Amino acid sequence: MYKISERIHYIGVNDEQKTLFEGLWPLPHGVSYNSYLIKDEKTALIDTVEHGFEDEFISNITSCINDGNIDYLVVNHMEPDHSSLISMILERYPDLKIIANAKTLPMLKGYHGVSEDRVKIVQEGESVSLGSCSLQFFMAPMVHWPETMVTWLPEENTLFSGDAFGTFGKIAQDPTDKAGTFDEFENEMRRYYSNIVGKYGNPVQSALKKLSSLEIKRICSTHGPIWAENIDKVVSLYDRLSRYETEKGVCIVYGSMYGNTATAAKELAKALENMGVPYALHDLAGNDSSREDGLGISGALMDVFKYDTIAVGSPTYNNGIFPPIETFMKALSARLIKNRRFFAFGSYTWAGASVRLLNGMASEFGFEILSDGGSFPQAFSKEKFNIEEAAVLLAGNK
Ligand SMILES: Cc1cc2nc3c(=O)[nH]c(=O)nc-3n(C[C@H](O)[C@H](O)[C@H](O)COP(=O)(O)O)c2cc1C
Ligand SMILES: [Fe+2]
Ligand SMILES: [Fe+2]
Repeated sequence: MYKISERIHYIGVNDEQKTLFEGLWPLPHGVSYNSYLIKDEKTALIDTVEHGFEDEFISNITSCINDGNIDYLVVNHMEPDHSSLISMILERYPDLKIIANAKTLPMLKGYHGVSEDRVKIVQEGESVSLGSCSLQFFMAPMVHWPETMVTWLPEENTLFSGDAFGTFGKIAQDPTDKAGTFDEFENEMRRYYSNIVGKYGNPVQSALKKLSSLEIKRICSTHGPIWAENIDKVVSLYDRLSRYETEKGVCIVYGSMYGNTATAAKELAKALENMGVPYALHDLAGNDSSREDGLGISGALMDVFKYDTIAVGSPTYNNGIFPPIETFMKALSARLIKNRRFFAFGSYTWAGASVRLLNGMASEFGFEILSDGGSFPQAFSKEKFNIEEAAVLLAGNK
């Protein structure tokens, strides 16, 4: 528990045990599930936390209110990382009412068997008074589920934003950011956005527009630090990410069975390095623990959202694309990535197909194909695959 202001208390938890978020995304620095308790004439909880943290959550609550009652539980988002402990809270506080919107109701019933008489349904813009302060609700559909809403506490200029402005990474005991906290979390925030929310650029833009008239002084998201000092930087990063804005640089993503495509990828990285072009290199073969950064596709997506150019290396595999690279290409499609410069390369032995197929997928996404010349037979050599020429294309001359 940590007191944020006279009324607002942080009662979330750090998860340092889970290795994969949503069973997919590595958590080398952990993740926090944030929940808040607002103490006024009435007491309100904002969201709960993930299964497995029952004792810590209850102890955080009781250190705020002892045996006191809780009047409301605001459910901003039904994804189980925030809603798992709803049943437990309903049982422990029999007079408590859930505040949620109409789209949340069937999910409350389906996950927790909640009966309608325990739910107060709120509409867009509606306020509920807690005494000296009030909670106001704004719908933020698809950020990142359809029922998502955010909660505004005008008397404290505080936005409880759900997953919006969230980031991977465990947080300090004092959860409010300091001057350097944004820099510390920037990569994990980009990785969280690209992995989890990346498909929903337009809904995020709509939510940002809707919230732009609020004078926000504190953002209490469901994952990561509370933002106060760094609000401009955090909102600006989410704005750029949801507009698919990039900076100049190359995200090299490759998979390789016997090392030939891998050698080409590393030579390409070396050439970019020599030219002073920003780049990132991501190996998608094998499992997370066998890779240098342990991030695999999760890290690759992070850098796809950062750089304007993507170079993809895949050997030809049963007349097709090497499976982990095909999965990566599907992940780009699922996230509606557009406006990228694209270059494919890779080894084959008897009939190359991967480069042609990759370029085909990329042109369907509307990417600019920089060259169709990245395919080479058997072992890598600079005679078969002109690295310098490829690096000049990738560097571009914008
Ligand atoms: C399961 C498997 C399927 C393959 N399918 C093809 C193919 O359809 N066409 C082809 O030209 N080479 C095929 N190859 C050969 C690889 O493309 C070749 O070994 C290439 O050099 C591997 O690149 P790497 O060293 O980057 O893994 C296949 C290899 C394996 C192991
Ligand atoms: Fe979520
Ligand atoms: Fe979440």
